[in-house]
Formats: sequence, C-alpha cells, structure tokens
Amino acid sequence: MIGVSEVSEPDYGIDAPGVRRGMLIAGIGGVALCSVAVTAAVRATGAVATVSGWAAAGAALLAIYGLGMAAYMTYGSRVGKRHDRERLLDLADVVSPLTGCEAVLDVGGGRGLMLVGAARRLTTGVAVGIDLWRAEDQDANMPEAPLDNARREGVADRVSVATADARVLPFADRSFDAVVSHWVVHNLPDAADRARVLDEMLRVLRPGGVLVLADIAHHEAYRAHLVERGLGDLRILDGGLEAAMAGALSGGTFRPKAIVGRRGG
Ligand SMILES: C[S@@+](CC[C@H](N)C(=O)[O-])C[C@H]1O[C@@H](n2cnc3c(N)ncnc32)[C@H](O)[C@@H]1O
Repeated sequence: MIGVSEVSEPDYGIDAPGVRRGMLIAGIGGVALCSVAVTAAVRATGAVATVSGWAAAGAALLAIYGLGMAAYMTYGSRVGKRHDRERLLDLADVVSPLTGCEAVLDVGGGRGLMLVGAARRLTTGVAVGIDLWRAEDQDANMPEAPLDNARREGVADRVSVATADARVLPFADRSFDAVVSHWVVHNLPDAADRARVLDEMLRVLRPGGVLVLADIAHHEAYRAHLVERGLGDLRILDGGLEAAMAGALSGGTFRPKAIVGRRGG
C-alpha cells in the first residue's frame, strides 16, 4: 500500500517466559481460590467462617503477587526495557563520549535490545552480539532474531552476532570500545562464573572504554568486583519507582539496576 512502510516494529521478546507463565498461573489460581474462600466465608458460621476468611486473604495476596509480577514482567519486556536501553546508552555516552566509529560488544544480547540500540548510535562503527540463545531466558531466542530486529531498525549493516559463552569470550584483549550487557549475568547460578563473566568483559574492553552492566540482582557483588579490577568513574543507575515496586513485589529478588564505568589503564 502506498505511503505505508513495510518495515514492522522490532520485537525484543519476553524475558524468562516460563517464570512469567508461572506467575500468571499463580495469579489466576489465587483469584479462583479467593472467590471459593469468600463464598465459603459468607455461607459458613463460627470457626469455618474464620478459617475461610483467612484463606481468602491468603489467596488474595497470591493473586496480587502473581498477577502483579506477570504484568510487571510483560510491561518490562515490552516497554520498560526499551526506555532503559536509551537511558543506559545516554549514561555510557557521558562516561566515555561516543563518536560513532566504536566497536561495541553486547554480551548475552538475546533478541538484540542493546545491540540494536548501540548500533543506532554508530555511523562507521560495529556492534557485535554474543549469546547462547537459551529459550528459558527469552522467548524465540535465536541468532536470526537480533538480525531481524536490526533490519527493522535500519542498522543491519552495522550488526553481527555469534554463538559464544559469556564466560569465554572469543575476542582478543582490548578489542572493544564499549561492552554492554542487559539482564544476563544473574542467569549464571554460580558466583565464580558470574565473576568470570565480569573479568571477560573487562579483558576485551580497551583501557578508557565504557562498561554498561544492567542486571536484576547481585549489584553489590558486581560493584565490588569491578572496582577491585580497576573500573572507575562509576555511575549507578537505579530503576526508580518502577524498579522499587518490582523489588517489593518480588521480596527483593528482582531489582533492576545498572553499573556504568570506565576501564582503567
Ligand atoms: C533475560 S535475557 C536478556 C537478553 C537481552 N540482553 C535483553 O535484555 O533483551 C538473558 C540472555 O542471556 C543469555 N545467556 C545466559 N547465559 C549465557 C551465557 N553463559 N553466555 C552467553 N549468553 C548467555 C540468554 O541466552 C539470554 O539471551
């Protein structure tokens, strides 16, 4: 049709789709249990009414938690993280101003959120994404997805991807001007593995280059490790009210924050 672009919107996917499904099921189960318990409480008398009332309250909490987390995870994946990426890249630009000719690495790039966002700020530079494309961490996670999103955002000529483990990055020391990573490192259950990923990011970053590490947990451990390894000019980006609400809902297990800093010499 004339006047209508054939290029569709990018799709950066849903993070942790299994967890989101579990939250949705818990929330719907909570609503169902709550209505059964409320009905029982209204019809019964004495101790049965009291127990039913407490059961209704518990089920209501489960419903709020499950549905609240599912809604937050959907919003975060669809809307929130696209705002996040621009704020993170703006801050990276403050810490180490970009000229457009940089080489940028996105570690655990998935469907290309940061990779494509970085590429949009480049002119002659390149953005490289690596991942293991784990389906449990992001839906429809495969190398074609970030390339397709790069096409949709008009930066395919600046983007490439490779399959690699973040613990053993297949790049020479000091080969990137900027290294970014968004909601990846917490997926490694072992603290020693998480430290190894941070060391790898610093190894491939040139002195003076900028590191952007955004994640939902382990912030203090990351900060201490990176400072010990010489990351300086540190800025901490807190997710604000939205992140605080997610932290409260999840009992502190899910708290988006980012560390941005410059590698020492
Ligand atoms: C929650 S997704 C985030 C993807 C993307 N950075 C974003 O923000 O949309 C986590 C990503 O980390 C990747 N990942 C997990 N462990 C990895 C590892 N050891 N090496 C490389 N990638 C890994 C997963 O495959 C997945 O793409």
